[in-house]
Amino acid sequence: MSNRKICYCFIAIIVFCSISVIVFTKYLVGLWPGNLSPLRLFHGPTVKPLWPVDGPTAPGYYEHLGRLTNPCAGERPLSNRVRNDVWYLTGQSHSGHEVAVFSAHLDDRSSERRNTAAVRVMSVVNWKGHAGPKVYCLLWYYNVSHPVVAAVEELKTGRGLSVGDSHYEEKLFTCVLPTWHVPEHVSLTLGSECNPAYALVPVIIPQRARMHDFGVCVAVAYGSINGTRIKEWVEFHRLLGVGEFNIYHGKLDRMTLDVFTAYSKQHVVALRQIAPPIDNWCTWCQKLATIAVLNDCMYRNMHRYKYMVVVDFDEIIVPHSDVNYSEMLQRITRASQSASVDQFAFRNAYFFLDFPADETQPRELVTLRYHTRAAVSQPGVAVKSILNPRGCVSMQNHYCAKRMPRDATVLMVDPDVALNHHYKRCHLTADECGYTLRHGVDDGATQRFREQLLDNLAKQRGITPR
Ligand SMILES: *[C@@H]1O[C@H](CO)[C@@H](O)[C@H](O)[C@H]1NC(C)=O
Ligand SMILES: *[C@@H]1O[C@H](CO)[C@@H](O)[C@H](O)[C@H]1NC(C)=O
Ligand SMILES: *[C@@H]1O[C@H](CO)[C@@H](O)[C@H](O)[C@H]1NC(C)=O
Repeated sequence: MSNRKICYCFIAIIVFCSISVIVFTKYLVGLWPGNLSPLRLFHGPTVKPLWPVDGPTAPGYYEHLGRLTNPCAGERPLSNRVRNDVWYLTGQSHSGHEVAVFSAHLDDRSSERRNTAAVRVMSVVNWKGHAGPKVYCLLWYYNVSHPVVAAVEELKTGRGLSVGDSHYEEKLFTCVLPTWHVPEHVSLTLGSECNPAYALVPVIIPQRARMHDFGVCVAVAYGSINGTRIKEWVEFHRLLGVGEFNIYHGKLDRMTLDVFTAYSKQHVVALRQIAPPIDNWCTWCQKLATIAVLNDCMYRNMHRYKYMVVVDFDEIIVPHSDVNYSEMLQRITRASQSASVDQFAFRNAYFFLDFPADETQPRELVTLRYHTRAAVSQPGVAVKSILNPRGCVSMQNHYCAKRMPRDATVLMVDPDVALNHHYKRCHLTADECGYTLRHGVDDGATQRFREQLLDNLAKQRGITPR
């Protein structure tokens, strides 16, 4: 080879190396001045599977995080802005845009497609009825002064609510973790990653040990719920195999709260505080927290429960021939011939308290006294679900609204196998109630559980609602 050719070759190598270095620093490491893009950080060279969770003692901790932190974003400590003792706030005063965060959970499931972890942030936003600003996630790591900016996915998770000139929407923000370290806190900022973050939301790491086959997650508990009926509801579910109940209470009256507190001392109930995400305690304002509460319950207990049961305080999913939920789900799964079922949806049946009561049954037990029901509701009306929480991304009252990308089935359970028994006064129009009450169906499905229910209630004599 001539000297000239060697020289050209040498120049070509130098040019190639320089371009590589520029491209690497600009796009991958994100150190190009003024051009820090969260997406580039995520796709950078440090993306690795998250597991295991490790802290500052792990090799490379400061090196990696130091490279990824964004100096324009704030430093700790932040002034924590909290509303109603529960919601962490962030916002922009000039636009009036605001995000209220209930909780943030590490999502350590790895889906079949990606092997990444994320922080899921349960929120309610007020975008004033317009398209919202861009939202950024700031991830704060132990003993690192500046945050790492992460890519955000935004998901609308509820129906929203308009109050005055404000329009509130339930949102799930997903912050994709750029490294295999678990942040201590997360903050959201609006408009730019350099805008101030006002609150440090602790990242809750889900317990990995399996504790219960079935756990109940229930929407916000407020006002007065009859304590005698709560006790019946708890004990009925326990005999079907439920090991734990998650109650989020917001201004519950004393009698109701006492019953839950007594059960929480037995570790049957996990009590947590909730409040409306806005400065208004109207009924719908309290219900605006529902999606956040159900998903907080789901993410917190994702590994602790084999299945989660999502019902209200006046509902019980009652099997018509199986002895408990485990037996029932096993039988349904076998019959369906599906390899795996993630969600079982149960049809609703109103056992209206306007139907005549069976006076031979104990006075205070609604599930035994009221065994006349309306015709089974249409499949789309008020179904309730038992589901695998590891298969769901966003849960709402009736079913999982967004599922994990996995190969599993959703089943609508045959009304002959089980129904969601719904005990309440008739809420339909006068004509509809009149018709329904003249066409009651006798359904004695609960009677099989009578003796066991009475025994279990007797064992809880100490809990006396007043
Ligand atoms: C925290 O950071 C400071 C300053 O970088 C360092 O001196 C200290 O050892 C760190 N603490 C721990 C527990 O890593
Ligand atoms: C459900 O019933 C089966 C059969 O009687 C029993 O072996 C199992 O322990 C029960 N499961 C629960 C959670 O009660
Ligand atoms: C609560 O419900 C039980 C059973 O239906 C009833 O006997 C009792 O009077 C109710 N208590 C109150 C305070 O409404």
